[in-house]
Amino acid sequence: MWERVTIGQSGAAVSRRAGVYRKTSDVEDLVGEGERLVWLRVQGIPAAEVLECEPGLLVTAEVPGRSAAEPWPDPDRIVDSLADFTRALHALPVADCPFDRSLAVTVPEALAADPDLDDLDDERAGWTRDRLVAELLATRPADEDLVVCHGDLSVPNVLFDPETGDVTGVVDAGRLGVADRWLDLAIATRSLVDERNSQYGPDAAARYLERCGTEPDPAKTAFYRLLDEFF
Ligand SMILES: Nc1ncnc2c1ncn2[C@@H]1O[C@H](COP(=O)(O)OP(=O)(O)OP(=O)(O)O)[C@@H](O)[C@H]1O
Ligand SMILES: [Mg+2]
Repeated sequence: MWERVTIGQSGAAVSRRAGVYRKTSDVEDLVGEGERLVWLRVQGIPAAEVLECEPGLLVTAEVPGRSAAEPWPDPDRIVDSLADFTRALHALPVADCPFDRSLAVTVPEALAADPDLDDLDDERAGWTRDRLVAELLATRPADEDLVVCHGDLSVPNVLFDPETGDVTGVVDAGRLGVADRWLDLAIATRSLVDERNSQYGPDAAARYLERCGTEPDPAKTAFYRLLDEFF
């Protein structure tokens, strides 16, 4: 029997069975997601192993451990480990990455997308699509500090060893690609300050950025969170 895990924001259904996770979707590019997971593992970055992958279906081996969204006795350890993982990912050579998530790709994709206006971040609650688009175009950063980004680095998507706190693997890599590092940093910190993840909070987000070796960048943080509203 498959046990239902989630229905993702973009309509993917995830279920699990003895050591295996199965994701199905009519709309998401699950072949692209499988290719990205395989590529990550080849680079030495821990990620779910792909067992089966075809249009509409992605089957992965269960990554051991628990996600950062589960309760942890020492949340600081998880934050540090998430930061170390982020640094390792962002240290990969961009020239070796065949996936492009730079603004040249993602802004046109956003302009063609149909954002869920009922699921906007609090600071944009009630905005129209036109207003989102206008703000996106008006605040598009002039420069991009390109690294290999996961693309959806929120706390449920990273798993950790309960004994050591080390990262055991990432999942949900369908939007991995070369992009400004703030694509990941903006989403990771938003996830850390999200009230649903109350074991973390603003201090945890500050700790994460410091360990990533980055000064806060409010403009890029705001822009990449806005961009994420479209996906
Ligand atoms: N191979 C795996 N090993 C362990 N846990 C997994 C695995 N695949 C998925 N999960 C768990 O299931 C959750 C949902 O899977 P996933 O993140 O891929 O889908 P989603 O967020 O619902 O989809 P999307 O955002 O693409 O619509 C993950 O957050 C993770 O906790
Ligand atoms: Mg996910």
